[in-house]
Amino acid sequence: MSLIVGIISQKGGVGKSTISRALAAEYARNEWEVKIADFDLSQGTVTSWNADRMANDITPRISVEQFSSVDNLAKQKDHYDLIVVDGAPASTRQTLDIAKLSHMLILPTKTTLDDLRPQIKLAHELRKNGVPKEKILFALSMVGDSKSELEGGKEYIEDAGYVYIGAVYRKDSIGQAHDSGRAANETPFKTVNQSVDQFIQAVVDHLQQVSV
Ligand SMILES: Nc1ncnc2c1ncn2[C@@H]1O[C@H](COP(=O)(O)OP(=O)(O)OP(=O)(O)O)[C@@H](O)[C@H]1O
Ligand SMILES: [Mg+2]
Repeated sequence: MSLIVGIISQKGGVGKSTISRALAAEYARNEWEVKIADFDLSQGTVTSWNADRMANDITPRISVEQFSSVDNLAKQKDHYDLIVVDGAPASTRQTLDIAKLSHMLILPTKTTLDDLRPQIKLAHELRKNGVPKEKILFALSMVGDSKSELEGGKEYIEDAGYVYIGAVYRKDSIGQAHDSGRAANETPFKTVNQSVDQFIQAVVDHLQQVSV
């Protein structure tokens, strides 16, 4: 059976596709059979990115497929070691279906209240609809270098009663890596890759707890 990680948000542009790609790249590097399920049909961010990845001959290869329904994804749940679900923003019904199918959820948010509030609201709604709190992990995205920014975001998440797993810092090289079919942990800069990998490792550690 595949491990399934859902990366979801109510708001757009919070780093879902960024985390999806970095997580998939990490597992693919370790020779897991990985698929990214791209539920964002209107943008197809990861699908287009993977076309660039193949055109630029970047390894490891990652399988990406677009899905319009969680039922179709459920049919494939025995075919991979890991399925990373890249959710579409603002699709409440589908988000709940993804949440129920997933073993673990990552809710990325930027550090501003404009972004934190809707993500916390989404987490509360998921719980109201029967999703266990233990499945829900919060990540901070596009964090600047100020320590107070990170601490403020982390505190907000923890005060709301949720688990914070780590942060991906805002770096120009991450956007540029995406433009060439690379993931955030595949930039030309070792320190950037290490920092993203540290975040990804925290996700991997949580996933290991889920899978034992
Ligand atoms: N840490 C970062 N540093 C620099 N740029 C970033 C970082 N994370 C994400 N980006 C860029 O910000 C934009 C939004 O990120 P991303 O596509 O991951 O968000 P998303 O939540 O998937 O958005 P959507 O809801 O529209 O699908 C992209 O252009 C991405 O390349
Ligand atoms: Mg996206």
